Amino acid sequence: MPRFYITTAIDYVNSRPHLGTAYEKIAADVIARYKRLAGFETRFVMGNDEHSQNVFKKARENGEDPLAYCDRMAREFLDVWARLDLSFDDFIRTTEPRHMAGVQELVRRMTAAGDIYEGHYEGWYCVSCEAFKQEKDLVDGLCPIHRTKPDWIREKNYFFRLSKYTQPLLDHFRAQPEFLVPDIRRNEILRLLESGLDDISVSRAGQAWGIPMPDDPGSVIYVWVDALINYATAVGFGTDQALFETWWPADLHVIGKDITRFHCVIWPAMLMSAGLPVPRQVFGHGWVHFRGEKMSKSLGTAIEPLEAAQKFGPDPLRLYLVKEIAFGSDGDFTWERFEERYNVDLANNLGNLVSRVATMAEKYREGRLAAAEAPGRLAELSASAVAEYRGHMDAFALEAGAAAAFRIVDAANEYIASTEPWALARDAAQAARLSQVLFDVAEALRVAAVLLLPIMPRSAAEILRRVGETTPPGQLTLDAANWRNDGTRVIIKGAAMWPRVDLTSSRSTSVDETAPAPAPSAEKPAPSAQSPAPSAQNPAPSASVSAPSASVPAPGADKISIDDFMKVDLRVAKVLTAEKVPNSRKLVKLSIDLGTEQRTLVAGIAEAYEPEQLVGRTIVMVFNLKPAKLMGIESNGMVLAARPDGRKPTLAGFDAEVRPGTRVR
Ligand code: MSP
Repeated sequence: MPRFYITTAIDYVNSRPHLGTAYEKIAADVIARYKRLAGFETRFVMGNDEHSQNVFKKARENGEDPLAYCDRMAREFLDVWARLDLSFDDFIRTTEPRHMAGVQELVRRMTAAGDIYEGHYEGWYCVSCEAFKQEKDLVDGLCPIHRTKPDWIREKNYFFRLSKYTQPLLDHFRAQPEFLVPDIRRNEILRLLESGLDDISVSRAGQAWGIPMPDDPGSVIYVWVDALINYATAVGFGTDQALFETWWPADLHVIGKDITRFHCVIWPAMLMSAGLPVPRQVFGHGWVHFRGEKMSKSLGTAIEPLEAAQKFGPDPLRLYLVKEIAFGSDGDFTWERFEERYNVDLANNLGNLVSRVATMAEKYREGRLAAAEAPGRLAELSASAVAEYRGHMDAFALEAGAAAAFRIVDAANEYIASTEPWALARDAAQAARLSQVLFDVAEALRVAAVLLLPIMPRSAAEILRRVGETTPPGQLTLDAANWRNDGTRVIIKGAAMWPRVDLTSSRSTSVDETAPAPAPSAEKPAPSAQSPAPSAQNPAPSASVSAPSASVPAPGADKISIDDFMKVDLRVAKVLTAEKVPNSRKLVKLSIDLGTEQRTLVAGIAEAYEPEQLVGRTIVMVFNLKPAKLMGIESNGMVLAARPDGRKPTLAGFDAEVRPGTRVR
């Protein structure tokens, strides 16, 4: 059995987890669960980083012993992680004896290699980053991440000859381009390496909280050096050689983009110095933003993960974070969008399919479904979605993996709409056809649930139970996602898994909330991208349109005829490239694919989206707008986006994939 060792960053415990730190753990959990499903013997390790000065300070402020404080926080963290269904195999704390022993051993090896020497450090230190800062790293004298003034320190430190590893690291990066992904992060680190590395301090003087330097108990090991070694000590480095040999080197470190330098420069150099293999890959994910800022306790933009998980259970939150944020890019969490996606993906789409399958199975076949003919077109579609899913998940494109699983769900709902089982049921000659249609839809749902196991483990297991999958979820592998046109499935009817929620807040611009779809009935087709075009009697919900020079129609303005509306040619397009317009805060230049032609557009969405987030995205645009020049660039069309009051614009989009060039009505 192949092995896969995956880790997350270990968290500082001066405050409880927030949704940003939880995002990382959920994404890593999805990868770990996927690897298990794909047949890997997997070890997934998380943990807490307890030797930071802020932890010590916080404990003192509370009048607590630092270790007792860390014990209490560990219980709080473990409680949150359990409620998010994180499936880690081990949880390491840096105050554990197994870790402290391994850290001292690794530093000893670096010393034996001649790479540690004594010196004096004088300069800035940001306690929240736990990082030595150079003048050029500061913005207006403040740490750009925490917006606080760093401390000026002058002390005896031990230094690590990091400079010696500039060339070996460059060689490594060139020989193993996949060492750091996504590419954008690798380029940042390559530039850093090319400019040459300085030696770094690896100890702090006069501090009581930390792991002592092996031969100088008056100094403690710098907290980042201590913390990085967790990845090795968690699999026995310094205490259990057999375990270490089984799992090292790690296959994947999942970490945030703010700490790639520690993981891709300092950590591999420490390992090279100690004569140990370096990890195979580091994934530097993006940040979860809230109200346009990085979600963070110190910036006051943190959301409590349990509050989000309690709203609908952990799975809708897991799905939102994985499906709505391209893994590697930054993404937003908003309560509004979370509720919208819940209604669209779960209440209307997947939940609707689960209840339709059960209702029809009961009504037409007394809850027992068996294949009667060759499978219909769903089988082929499902096979291609499974192949896509595997490709995306193997490449850690988690959002695309989730979308591939949902393609099967969309297709199954559409299949019900087009085959009309309720009509087949009225014609006795169609009995075999009806059996096959019902079986196919249940089978598609079963396959989708197998693919969703890593993302929504509880709900996918419940769906599998309801569609008659007899193998326990923990024993399933990806082979179970192969279409099976045999056997009798006992379909179980249960309560609605995700009842639709009313979007009652004062928000007024999103498509879903302005015209909530009627609660889907068991048989009627679910709302889908293929729904008939809105008519004058049944108008489409209005999204407020906002682009560089768009004027928003006043509410209650004179009504227009359908002919007037049809004058506006709205089309689907795919973004090929995106770049910020120089000297403009708001504008971004896009080249887009319309199926039959490519065009350049300028859109006022640069405050809300990084160019990298836009590439590959499907947008809606006004196709027949006269060209206009913006900042000297000719824009041939206008992108549709909503600009909720006081917030940044958000692009109009679709629930399912739509071909570029398709008209929107
Ligand atoms: N203790 C160090 C990591 C040491 S690893 C050897 C640390 N801790 S942290 O608690 O500040 O952050 C833990 C992880 O959460 C990091 O990977 C960090 O990038 C990530 N995130 C913190 N805020 C985040 C968001 N708002 N969004 C996504 N990830 C975020 O750094």
